[in-house]
Amino acid sequence: MFDSDKIFPPNPEFAKNARIKSMDEYYALMDEAKNDYEGFWKKYADEKIEWIEPYEKVLDETNAPFYKWFTNGKLNVTIQCIDRHLKDKADKTAIIFEGDRGDVQKITYETLAKEVNRFANLLKNRFDIKKGDRVVLYMPMIPQAVYAMLACARIGAIHSIVFGGFSAEALRDRIKDAKAKLVITADGAYRKSKPYLLKPVVDDALKDGIQSVEAVLVVKRNNEKIDWIEGRDHDYDELIKESSSECEPEIMDSEDPLFLLYTSGSTGKPKGVQHSQAGYILWAQMTMEWVFDIKEGDVYWCTADIGWITGHTYIVYGPLAAGTTTVLFEGVPTYPDAGRAWKMVQEHKITQFYTAPTAIRVLHKMGEDEPKKYDLSSLKVLGTVGEPIDPPAWMWYHEEVGGGRCAVVDTWWQTETGGHMISPLPGATPIKPSCATFALPGIMAEVIDKDGNPKEIGETGLLCITKPWPSMIRTIWGDHERFKKAYFSDAVKDGKAVYFSGDGAMVDKDGYITITGRVDDVINVSGHRLGTAEIEAAVAEDDKVAEVAVVGRPHPIKGESIFVFLVLKEGAVTEDIKSHINSLLSKEIGNIAKADDIVAVPGLPKTRSGKIMRRILRSIAKGEEIKQDISTLEDPSIVANIQEAVKQAV
Ligand code: WT7
Repeated sequence: MFDSDKIFPPNPEFAKNARIKSMDEYYALMDEAKNDYEGFWKKYADEKIEWIEPYEKVLDETNAPFYKWFTNGKLNVTIQCIDRHLKDKADKTAIIFEGDRGDVQKITYETLAKEVNRFANLLKNRFDIKKGDRVVLYMPMIPQAVYAMLACARIGAIHSIVFGGFSAEALRDRIKDAKAKLVITADGAYRKSKPYLLKPVVDDALKDGIQSVEAVLVVKRNNEKIDWIEGRDHDYDELIKESSSECEPEIMDSEDPLFLLYTSGSTGKPKGVQHSQAGYILWAQMTMEWVFDIKEGDVYWCTADIGWITGHTYIVYGPLAAGTTTVLFEGVPTYPDAGRAWKMVQEHKITQFYTAPTAIRVLHKMGEDEPKKYDLSSLKVLGTVGEPIDPPAWMWYHEEVGGGRCAVVDTWWQTETGGHMISPLPGATPIKPSCATFALPGIMAEVIDKDGNPKEIGETGLLCITKPWPSMIRTIWGDHERFKKAYFSDAVKDGKAVYFSGDGAMVDKDGYITITGRVDDVINVSGHRLGTAEIEAAVAEDDKVAEVAVVGRPHPIKGESIFVFLVLKEGAVTEDIKSHINSLLSKEIGNIAKADDIVAVPGLPKTRSGKIMRRILRSIAKGEEIKQDISTLEDPSIVANIQEAVKQAV
């Protein structure tokens, strides 16, 4: 039976050579940061970053919460990720690409340098992309996606990647908001041995024209037939041939934007989270070294998609800055069978494996004994991210995949934090399963109330980061007010607004932090973050729908699933409502937003002032008894009627 109090100490053999070897070392680092915060960060910025020109000030707080790090420093992150490795690692494999169908390509740092430079020259010379221009990427997991990201960084353009699972509508909104000049895509790619298409989605997104967009650059991956708009569409594979492999890096300021990445919030449309250069790349590299304990000779694999922050920081920027070998995988870990991932671990001798709890639950369910069939002895560290991991999944991962010898690092962080914030250190932290454990050195994570008072042991509070950190979000693209409101208006400590994550957490008697989940209206479906407001807006597009409310419901594999309550207009027919609403959701947002439950109800539980009581709906969706006080509802009898409608429907 699973013993939830069991603590897993670090593997002593591993700890011996780890970068941080003990809790004493961890506490010493934390003390250093507490005693001299800027000095702490200065040490690493000086030691790790290849500066073109030195910075003047470590942290500028004058315009808080618009913090600036390493002010007036000059650098280029591609020097950090590529050029500086060419001295002694030119022939080292930077990227192992494995295609869906098993095709493998090894890309050395030298080849990476040339491909990125070629791509950068193409952007500059052919498409007139300049420093500060936005380039949207709608790409599959292929090497050219990485080249495109780094090519933007090389010339100072700001990339904004849109995950390939988003629909044309969602893509259009993001292109428009970013005012992108160029869209880079591929004809498509392969999934489960079958070709699928991406370019038609771009065509659809651009069908009415978007003023800022001048061109579309198309990489050929599967050579499927696609429509071609002469003058607008350009063939990467043709153009790249003439492009020179030498390209001087643009000199970038520490605080120039590096990329935008749209993510969902509790209100309104997705926000373009803006990250900067120096602070971001510093923390990306440092967390690779501390959390994954990356060493020379390691082969590291993160299964995320580059369309999410995990793909940005822990497939591309972090691993390359750390000079390691990073695996890029086009396919899905359950195809052709549930042993695919383990076969890849065996074949590439993967040392660190990083994935989402959803994937672990699927692999566990589909192939409990699969790991035994492969040699997984190369593995040293296992990681999880994106959602809480439940104890059975944790145990299977630890025992069957990690052979009981690998630390499982449950890393808590967000699109906005740029890199890991709370995580075990594999050579130091005694791990409690399903617990993110402690803030990393230098990160001041606290569980507090809105006035900054620490919560009692075992009590849930707001998970806040009470000091700025180098890789933090700088602003929401084009909306500084929204940035302040979304992140710096819920909690105040010592008279200063502090960063609130949107998550609840609690601290136990030993100081361990456990994440309890979002406290806002954001839900997490298979590690994909969705705003209920966004889903509601999509459902409300339907002219049969009078009112709608969306909540998350716990799901054994996906973590959460989407539950839609809708009130239909008088006389509207309810037949096929589920497939109808789901096709709307996949059109407006993408397949990731499809709902598991869609129930027509006679009304929604509202207060007298008209506010929908989502807590009640969450309880109903879970099939829980309603314990909340419902007497403040405008119509308390509605609760029983909704419950009845749900019972009928499920
Ligand atoms: C939200 C951030 C960070 C990359 C992937 C998701 C949840 C993230 C954990 C964890 C429990 C977690 C939080 C957070 N989350 N990691 N280890 N344990 N919950 O990035 O889309 O920005 O979502 O994911 O709720 O706020 P994201």
